[in-house]
Amino acid sequence: MNVQQEKTTLLGTQSVEFSGQHRCLCNRTVKLCVIPLILIALAVGCGLALNYYLPRHQPAHHVPSHKCTDFCTLTLVETIPQNLTFGQNETIHVPTGQSLLDLINIAEHTIEIASYYWTLRGIDLSYHDDTSKEGERLFDALMNAGQNRNIKLKIVQNVPSKDYNDNDTALLASQGKAEVRTINFTRLIGSGIIHTKMWLIDRKHFYVGSANLDWRSLTQVKELGVIVRNCSCLATDMGKIFDVYWQLAVNDATIPKQWNPQLSTFINDANPEFVQYNNTKGTLYLSSSPPQLCPPGRTTDIDSILSVIKNAKYFVSVAVMDYFPTTLYSYPRKYWAIIDDALRDAAFNRHVSVRVLASYWNHTAPDMLYFLRSLQSINMHIPVGKRNKTLHVNVEVKIFEVPVYTESQRKIPYARVNHNKYMVTDKHAYIGTSNWSGDYFISTGGIGFILNQTNINKTSDNLRLQLHNVFERDWYSIYSHPLDNYITV
Ligand SMILES: *[C@@H]1O[C@H](CO)[C@@H](O)[C@H](O)[C@H]1NC(C)=O
Ligand SMILES: *[C@@H]1O[C@H](CO)[C@@H](O)[C@H](O)[C@H]1NC(C)=O
Ligand SMILES: *[C@@H]1O[C@H](CO)[C@@H](O)[C@H](O)[C@H]1NC(C)=O
Ligand SMILES: *[C@@H]1O[C@H](CO)[C@@H](O)[C@H](O)[C@H]1NC(C)=O
Ligand SMILES: *[C@@H]1O[C@H](CO)[C@@H](O)[C@H](O)[C@H]1NC(C)=O
Ligand SMILES: *[C@@H]1O[C@H](CO)[C@@H](O)[C@H](O)[C@H]1NC(C)=O
Ligand SMILES: *[C@@H]1O[C@H](CO)[C@@H](O)[C@H](O)[C@H]1NC(C)=O
Ligand SMILES: *[C@@H]1O[C@H](CO)[C@@H](O)[C@H](O)[C@H]1NC(C)=O
Ligand SMILES: *[C@@H]1O[C@H](CO)[C@@H](O)[C@H](O)[C@H]1NC(C)=O
Ligand SMILES: *[C@@H]1O[C@H](CO)[C@@H](O)[C@H](O)[C@H]1NC(C)=O
Ligand SMILES: *[C@@H]1O[C@H](CO)[C@@H](O)[C@H](O)[C@H]1NC(C)=O
Repeated sequence: MNVQQEKTTLLGTQSVEFSGQHRCLCNRTVKLCVIPLILIALAVGCGLALNYYLPRHQPAHHVPSHKCTDFCTLTLVETIPQNLTFGQNETIHVPTGQSLLDLINIAEHTIEIASYYWTLRGIDLSYHDDTSKEGERLFDALMNAGQNRNIKLKIVQNVPSKDYNDNDTALLASQGKAEVRTINFTRLIGSGIIHTKMWLIDRKHFYVGSANLDWRSLTQVKELGVIVRNCSCLATDMGKIFDVYWQLAVNDATIPKQWNPQLSTFINDANPEFVQYNNTKGTLYLSSSPPQLCPPGRTTDIDSILSVIKNAKYFVSVAVMDYFPTTLYSYPRKYWAIIDDALRDAAFNRHVSVRVLASYWNHTAPDMLYFLRSLQSINMHIPVGKRNKTLHVNVEVKIFEVPVYTESQRKIPYARVNHNKYMVTDKHAYIGTSNWSGDYFISTGGIGFILNQTNINKTSDNLRLQLHNVFERDWYSIYSHPLDNYITV
C-alpha cells in the first residue's frame, strides 16, 4: 500500500467518525478487521494526526479507492401498469418480469432472494385476473431451476402472516426446490419487517428495486429497479447483505455484538467502488437498513439518502410512494423529519430545486398530503439583502395516480399504484426499496443502490441521466397532478 492510498483510507475513516456514520475501520489491503483493537486505535490516531495536517476544505470523503475490474452491465427496469401510456417519444425501460426471468435463466449455480412476502401466482389472491400469468411464469421458472437445472435456491422472507401466507415459498420448500428461511424482526429488534426486494444470481448479477415477489408488481403496479450483470465486485457486496439476513433468519439468532468480519464491507459512501459499466463509468455502493443490520463499513440507507441530498448542487427529484416526516407503523407515531429537513435545507440554504412525486391510491393515509403541503409551503420568493433582490426557494410537489381502466383492474386488491422509490440529483442516482417514513429507516429491512455519475459524459449509457428522464417523463405525464387538486386549504 502506498502512502497516498493509506492517507485516503485513514482519512476516509476519519471523515466518517466526524459525520457520525457507521463505518468500517478496515480495508481490503490492510485487513485491519482481523488485527487486534490496538491497531485500529493506532489507525484512528494516525487518521486524526493526518487529518490535522491536511487542509479541512479537501474532504477525503468520496475518493473512490477501490476499482472493480469487471465490465458490468447496468440496466434500468420498470413495470408500467397495464394500459398506462406515455408520449411516443418517451422511453420505457425493459419490463421487470422479463428481466427477472432472464436472470433466472442465466443462473449457473445459485439464486438468492430476499423478500417481504410472496404472491407470484394468481391463486394466491381471492380475485383472479389474467395478468397474473407473468408472475406464474416467474414462479415456474424458479421451480424449474430447482428441479431440472440443479440451481440452489435460497430464500429469505418476512415471517408469514394472515394476509401474507407465502404459499409460493411453502410449495418451493416442500418440494425441495428451495431452502426457505423467515426472519422475525419483532424478535430481533422489537418491531419492523424485512421489506427488501433483492435477487442475487451466482454472486455475479443482481436486481434491487421496488418490485415485490408479487404478480401485481409485474403488470398492475408501477415499479422501478436496476439490474446489474457481470459485476462480481458489487454482487459480492450484495451477498454480504444477503448473508446478514440469512444468518439472522434462524430461530435462536440474535443481532451479534460483533459481526463476523466477512460481513464487513469496505465499499460505502466514503469509499464507493469505481465501476465501468456499458460504455461509461461511475462510482457505486450499496446501503442497508435498519442500522442494527449494518456490520462495520456498511453505510445505512438513511445516511446514503442524506448524503445524496447533501451533495446535490442544482436539483433533487424524488419519486416515492409514501412520504411522511413521521413514523407510520410504530405507535405512538413520532415526528421524524430527518429527510424533510434535508430537503428544506437543500432548497433554502443551497438553492437546490426540489421536486417530490408522491403516489396516491385509495389506501393513502390522508395526513401525507398535509405533510407534503407543508414541505411545498416554503416554495416562495424571499427577499435577500438590499435592492429588492429576491430568491426563489424552489420546492414542488406532485401526485402520481395510476388510473383504473377496467372493471377487473378495479377489483384487484392493492394494485394500480406508483410504487417507485428513487431519487435523482445532478450527481447521483439513488434506487431504493423503502417508502420514505421513519419506520423504514429505524426498523425495516431495505437496500439502497447509489450511483455517482455526473453530467460530464452525456452518453446514452448514463444511468443517472436515464433515471432523470424517467422522472421527467412521469412528472410531466397526464398521471401527475398538482398537490392542490388533492387538498383544500
Ligand atoms: C462523484 O464522482 C466524481 C468522479 O469520480 C468525484 O469527483 C466526486 O467527488 C464524486 N462526488 C461525490 C459526492 O461522491
Ligand atoms: C388495456 O390493455 C389490454 C391489454 O393490452 C387491452 O386489451 C385493453 O383493450 C386495454 N383497455 C383499455 C381501456 O385501454
Ligand atoms: C418526437 O420526436 C421526433 C423526432 O425528434 C419529433 O419530430 C416529434 O415532434 C416528437 N414528437 C413529440 C410528440 O414530441
Ligand atoms: C395457502 O396457505 C393457507 C394457509 O396455509 C391455506 O389456508 C390456503 O388454502 C393456501 N392456498 C392455496 C391456494 O394453496
Ligand atoms: C416473532 O417473534 C415474536 C417475539 O418474540 C413472537 O411473539 C412471534 O410469535 C414470532 N413470530 C413468529 C411467526 O414466529
Ligand atoms: C457477461 O460476460 C460474459 C462473459 O464475458 C458474456 O458472455 C456475457 O454476454 C456478459 N453478459 C452481459 C449481460 O453482459
Ligand atoms: C423596491 O420595491 C419597492 C416596493 O415595491 C419600490 O417602491 C422600489 O422602487 C423598489 N426599489 C428598487 C431599487 O427597485
Ligand atoms: C377508489 O375509490 C373511488 C371512490 O370511492 C372509486 O371510484 C375507485 O374505483 C376506487 N379505486 C379502486 C382502484 O378501487
Ligand atoms: C409503501 O407503503 C404502502 C402503504 O402506504 C404499502 O402498501 C406499500 O407496500 C409500501 N411499499 C413499499 C415498497 O414499502
Ligand atoms: C467520457 O467518454 C469518453 C469517450 O467515450 C471516455 O473516454 C471518457 O473516459 C468518459 N469519461 C467519463 C468520466 O466517463
Ligand atoms: C447497458 O447495456 C444493456 C445491454 O445492452 C442495456 O440493456 C442497458 O440499457 C444499458 N444500460 C444503460 C444504462 O444504458
